[in-house]
Amino acid sequence: MNQVYDVVIVGSGLSGLYCALNLDSNLNILIVSKGQLDENNTYLAQGGISTAKNDEDLDSYIQDTLNAGQHKNDISAVTTLAKESMENITLLEKLGVPFDRIDGNLSFTKEGAHSINRIVHVKDETGKYLWKTLIDCTKEKSNITIMDNTYLADIIYRDNTCYGGIIFNKGKQVNVYSKFIVLATGGIGGIFNDSTSQRILIGDAITLALKHNIKVKDLEYIQFHPTGLYDNDYYGRRFLISEAVRGEGGILLNEHGKRFVNELLPRDIVTNAIREEIRKSKVPYVFLDISFLPKYFILKRFPMIYEKCLQVGIDISKDPMLVIPSQHYHMGGVMVDLDSKSSMHRLYVIGEAACTGIHGKNRLASNSLLEGLVFSKRGADSINSSFQSITIKKVPAAQINQTPNELSKYNKQLLKKELQRRSSDLYDELFDNR
Ligand code: SIN
Repeated sequence: MNQVYDVVIVGSGLSGLYCALNLDSNLNILIVSKGQLDENNTYLAQGGISTAKNDEDLDSYIQDTLNAGQHKNDISAVTTLAKESMENITLLEKLGVPFDRIDGNLSFTKEGAHSINRIVHVKDETGKYLWKTLIDCTKEKSNITIMDNTYLADIIYRDNTCYGGIIFNKGKQVNVYSKFIVLATGGIGGIFNDSTSQRILIGDAITLALKHNIKVKDLEYIQFHPTGLYDNDYYGRRFLISEAVRGEGGILLNEHGKRFVNELLPRDIVTNAIREEIRKSKVPYVFLDISFLPKYFILKRFPMIYEKCLQVGIDISKDPMLVIPSQHYHMGGVMVDLDSKSSMHRLYVIGEAACTGIHGKNRLASNSLLEGLVFSKRGADSINSSFQSITIKKVPAAQINQTPNELSKYNKQLLKKELQRRSSDLYDELFDNR
């Protein structure tokens, strides 16, 4: 079966939805989501969204991003991110995102390696509120069709130009032709044993790129968040303890009750310090304590973390949490330019699936949602300015003989091997080999 749309967006997290909302409303848009619509990492984001607070903050924010990234970042992308940050926060508020405010002003929190408080948030569930606002706005649009449980098996292309995608919907292959394809398929956490990510996110855009010679970048740059909640019965996704907990004063302690690292250093440094403590002590976790803060503040600022920890028997207003580093983010991805264009014509990649070069070797806290906003809007603007000159071409599409499950298994192995080829630190045990 064949279908035709102007733009097909693959992925229903922040980047996919925000791109759709910023596209010209004359475009006929299809959004496909591999799993349930809310099965994305946006929904799980706790900390918040970084933003340059004003023009005076631009240089400092850019420097913080570069320092965290060990100066392996792309400076023009970082500058674009910082300059276009506040206008996107303002747009989100207009759409209805209920950011926390104090005395009428946006409440800015701090996280590791930021020199000032510059992160907007909604309690400790920024992503959930953000996503709910965006999906509600998307559902109101008559030019946008949304399909959940729909798998992108391949792209349709000729001579390095993308003409559409091959999707599986209700077990049937559908060839969807379009002027543009936008991949917003998220990160790679699902290929790891221990990750804060949704399990279903296994780097779909990257494996497509590897198969079809589309340029990728920095694939070996993988971030481990210092503080996943340690749980004896761990299976599946690890619950994150937001860096904002340390930003609001939380301290890390070893088994002897001693601090061993400045909690607000960049993530890679704090993660390594925790791993070293765990190695020395042979206790499989360290402690994160905020029990000295007023209980009313903990309940107001971190209601979800409070509840989740209670479920595993820890009252964080009285006792420390047990934490362990976990895979959290992929700085690398499909290489894109400042308009989110990949090296294949008419194929855009946005969000964690893309590598804009913003994060360098280590992402600064709360820069991922902002990257998703700024660069999915830039991608949408680029499509808006060029769609009128493009015609849809129905080039023949391949017949796919594997099921989505078989393809996913194969893709996980392909990606794992490519990552291991690029980095000697990625041992077999780190991966989900089931
Ligand atoms: C967190 O809340 O610690 C996660 C925010 C991020 O990944 O930047």
